[in-house]
Amino acid sequence: MATARSRARSNMALVKYWGKRDDRLVLPFTGSLSMTLDALTTETEVTFTGAPGSDELLLDGAPAQGGEVKRATELLNLVRAEKPGLGAAKVQSRNSFPTAGGLASSASGFAALAAAAAWAAGLDLPTEQLSILARRASGSACRSLFGGFVEWVRGERPDGTDSVARPVLPADAWDVAMAIAIVDTGRKKDSSRDAMKQSVLTSPYFDAWVKTTTADLEDARAAVLARDLERLGAIAERSFLKMHATAITSDPPAIFWKGPTLELIARVRELREAGTGAWATIDAGPHVAVLCRRADVGKVAQALRQISGVRDVVETRPGPGVERL
Ligand code: PMV
Repeated sequence: MATARSRARSNMALVKYWGKRDDRLVLPFTGSLSMTLDALTTETEVTFTGAPGSDELLLDGAPAQGGEVKRATELLNLVRAEKPGLGAAKVQSRNSFPTAGGLASSASGFAALAAAAAWAAGLDLPTEQLSILARRASGSACRSLFGGFVEWVRGERPDGTDSVARPVLPADAWDVAMAIAIVDTGRKKDSSRDAMKQSVLTSPYFDAWVKTTTADLEDARAAVLARDLERLGAIAERSFLKMHATAITSDPPAIFWKGPTLELIARVRELREAGTGAWATIDAGPHVAVLCRRADVGKVAQALRQISGVRDVVETRPGPGVERL
């Protein structure tokens, strides 16, 4: 029996990842840049039993669904390929936030699983290598291995060994924050995996997305290093709008927004016009994350809470990378 425990956090992309150039290896068409979110954590324990059998996965105390077990097993298989004889795994994973709330748990979940599995196997991998492991399960998870502001480098090699996450700015180096408005949906989150595939295959705007994202990424990296929030915020809004434009124009279309989503976008603009620096970003769902100065996050959260259809607002600052517990 070999056990290890980890804690990882979710992340929110400011320059989005949308579209794979290689589905199996999870290699993106473009690089992306995110902020690791201090408030959204997953703690995971992995035990390799040394005996053959099926992997067992408990999420917040309950047995996981088939699709989740399959993705976890695929990741564990990559670790087992490095170290024969590990056997079936028992995995227990707990989120600090409700998974049913529709907030991305795959990023923190797979980052924590990759690290705990590698450590339980006794593999001494650099964090960049752990990011490759997490990437194979969920692209955005590779960025959660590092804290603060993180870039997922596109890479050029067909085998994906250079498609890794890299830290850009540590969590405590910039006093920014995010307020994330959770919109009531009443149903399960749409799959980003399927929607991005449809965008690649059918959106007439996909080429334009790829062409312009490289420049957005350079610009965003420079803005982070210069701690220029206005510049970063403007790029973040541009990036999520372009990403959603490819989704909306794919066949069949993927429209993730609900009524409150549009009202939240409008409220963020009003805040800005009234002098509070606030910039929106939206993943493959209806929720709206708002980037702002740390001193303004209470005020921003309060403004978002007033929109009808907003169930909750989570406030967070940048958080650290993966930790061994
Ligand atoms: O890693 P996935 O397959 O969950 O895709 C995530 C895609 C977005 O969240 C929409 C954007 C991103 O860069 O995180």
